[in-house]
Amino acid sequence: MQFNDDWKYNPEFKTDMIKKNYDDSGWEDVRIPHTNAETPYHYFDESIYQFVSCYRKHINVEPEWKGKKVLLTFDGIAHIAKIYVNEKPVISHYGGYTGFTADISSYLDFEGDNILVVEVDSREDNNIPPFGNVIDYMTYGGIYREVSLEIKEPTYIKDVFVTTKEVNNECKSAQITVTLSETENEELTCRYVISGGSGEDKYIISSDLVPMTNQVAEIESMASFVQNWDISNPILYDLEVELYDGERILDKKSLRFGYRTCEFRNDGFYLNNRKIKLIGLNRHQSYPYVGYAMPKRMQRRDAEILKYELGVNAVRTSHYPHSKHFIDRCDELGLLVFTELPGWQHIGDEKWKEVAINNVEEMILQYRNHPSIILWGVRINESIDDDAFYTKTNQVAHKLDPTRQTGGVRYLKKSNLLEDVYTYNDFLHNGKTKGLDRKKDVTSKEEAPYLVTEYNGHMFPTKSFDNEEHRLSHALRHARVMDALFENKDITGGFGWCMFDYNTHKDFGSGDRICYHGVMDMFRNQKLAASVYASQGEEQTVFEISSSMNIGEYPGGAIGSVYAFTNADSVKVYKSGSFIKEFYPDKEQYKYLPHPPIIIDDFVGELMEKQEKMDHKTSEKVKDVLFAVNKYGQNNLPISYKLKMVFIMIKNKWKISDGVRLFTTYIANWGGEITTYRFDAIRNGKIVKSIEKSPVKNPRLLVEADTLYLKEEETYDVAEVRIKAVDDYGNLLSYYQEPLQIQVSGAIKLIGPSTISLRGGTSGIYIRTDGTTGLGKLVIKQEQLGNKELDFVVE
Ligand code: GAL
Repeated sequence: MQFNDDWKYNPEFKTDMIKKNYDDSGWEDVRIPHTNAETPYHYFDESIYQFVSCYRKHINVEPEWKGKKVLLTFDGIAHIAKIYVNEKPVISHYGGYTGFTADISSYLDFEGDNILVVEVDSREDNNIPPFGNVIDYMTYGGIYREVSLEIKEPTYIKDVFVTTKEVNNECKSAQITVTLSETENEELTCRYVISGGSGEDKYIISSDLVPMTNQVAEIESMASFVQNWDISNPILYDLEVELYDGERILDKKSLRFGYRTCEFRNDGFYLNNRKIKLIGLNRHQSYPYVGYAMPKRMQRRDAEILKYELGVNAVRTSHYPHSKHFIDRCDELGLLVFTELPGWQHIGDEKWKEVAINNVEEMILQYRNHPSIILWGVRINESIDDDAFYTKTNQVAHKLDPTRQTGGVRYLKKSNLLEDVYTYNDFLHNGKTKGLDRKKDVTSKEEAPYLVTEYNGHMFPTKSFDNEEHRLSHALRHARVMDALFENKDITGGFGWCMFDYNTHKDFGSGDRICYHGVMDMFRNQKLAASVYASQGEEQTVFEISSSMNIGEYPGGAIGSVYAFTNADSVKVYKSGSFIKEFYPDKEQYKYLPHPPIIIDDFVGELMEKQEKMDHKTSEKVKDVLFAVNKYGQNNLPISYKLKMVFIMIKNKWKISDGVRLFTTYIANWGGEITTYRFDAIRNGKIVKSIEKSPVKNPRLLVEADTLYLKEEETYDVAEVRIKAVDDYGNLLSYYQEPLQIQVSGAIKLIGPSTISLRGGTSGIYIRTDGTTGLGKLVIKQEQLGNKELDFVVE
């Protein structure tokens, strides 16, 4: 049962507040997920959310709860939570990234009022991970993930763990381990039902009653005709376990799982014995304004963006376990997940390590039934070797989940490998150096599997409002490292740093407390580098041109090469309607990428031959010189080109003015007629997408919501609205930075400020439900671009 509504919040905790009769009438009414402090978009520091706050809630205790277990589960509270019921301390929990359950049964008052108080310490406490040093991300605060309440018989199913294996081609087995809460009753039995598919294809297997021994039942379920869970066909099955005392049903527990095997081997990663190169991105769980506090739809949305917009097959949940909603969606989408214990570079004292080990335990117990999770990270991200500590984290992981391997992210080469997979952040590529180090130069055990867990990131921060050259460089760096990932057969895969920009501490980021390392901005708007990832897929046509085709954007007016990031076979280029040339993927420089970028380096093509009646040879020579003049400028033209120029001019009896005319007509185009460039992406001989670029005439707003239908389920719902300024052809206007006024009315509320700016031509807003149903209107006002309206329906 959901337990997210009707909370009272006070940002300043005082011990008096634990008292039952404390007057909380003046407090803020809040719903969970809740951030302890809303933040500005940027230029703020962590003191904004670093304080101890208090949440209170009246519990409506039902008479039927007498003699039962009343269990409250908190999915995530940042970072230390102390739970009190009716003034008595129930439990304290350390660590903001894993859930915990409080058994409040014995604290309830069946005659009077019942008060639940949660004291939330969101300060950076050096006794718990990830704290102890300055961290490259903000850690926020509050009861930021959902809360639920369950009423159980005193003996109930505490845990169900399913693992699967392939028996032979037709038969698969699921091992189901059922563990009960403590009980004296030795006569209990349980049974399971596995179902999947739907309608007539619905598949059901069930068991007879199985005796529980010492509160545990280990059941093997053999099944034929069940399908594997895979990245392209992520079939999930529902498992329901029922607990019986004689005929009486005591408890039920349901979960979803998938039949699949996964293994990192020396030569690659294998899912169901099929080798897959892991191509992924790192994700933080933060959002503008509300930090970590976003409900289900937004958590699921990030998984959808990774799969459908960025086309990756894997994600690393840096640097802590993420929301169950995100992982559930990864299960449904077939997105492979590497998740890890909370921490960043720093290892604390023994007490700190105890919390870390407990966090590993909680992480595995909470997430081990998810088929999408393929590897446990059991080292603090980028920490030094600590054999005693990491021997323990590995032991805990292997004991609680014998089916999955462990890794542990390091920046050290040749460090002690206590895990199954050597996982390493490879920041070798700086734009000039090769894409990746070789496995044998990094790992301490060559026979162990090897995975690259980060690359790029701080090596080249890139804002969506950086100039084109910079944005292109960013994209090319991702392309080069990805090419190296595909080249090195003994690298199981890699995760780029990172999916989107994020707020951070002072030592990182660009001074405004944003780390601009994303292939998307904070609102999940794509930067150019995003299309490098997206274009490696096959499912939908991806076609992005790196330049707006404005020579004034470039030093000396030299655009240089323009890149198409696409999965098309070729690109045909037209200049004001005249065909220039067809270009093909650059398989020379990017030998291993499934879809190398296409370099467009000639915008003259055969135009001079046609329009100036030049023969092909002369046209090529003239182009060569004109391109050189454009690249170097006339003052710095290398002598070889000067000689060529003189030779051509003498041969053709041209005057200086003829050369100038050719240059301005075909290269610089200053003062000429309006030029429209058209780029046609060709796949299997057909035009699959066209992009046109021309001077901007009628800029407009493009507004896209992920949904117009919101629904209150376990808690409030949130929609994401992405906003772009675009030209007549839908091209992003990367330097549009003007303000927008946002108004909402009806059944929706706005998260964040009502005046925002476009940055790099993009922005975003989040709309949330407010507990009512009906219609909600969003109006976005922009003086130059006009207004946009969206109508939402809230159920
Ligand atoms: C890594 C670190 C990440 C992020 C990244 C930036 O060292 O693990 O959290 O800071 O650098 O490139």
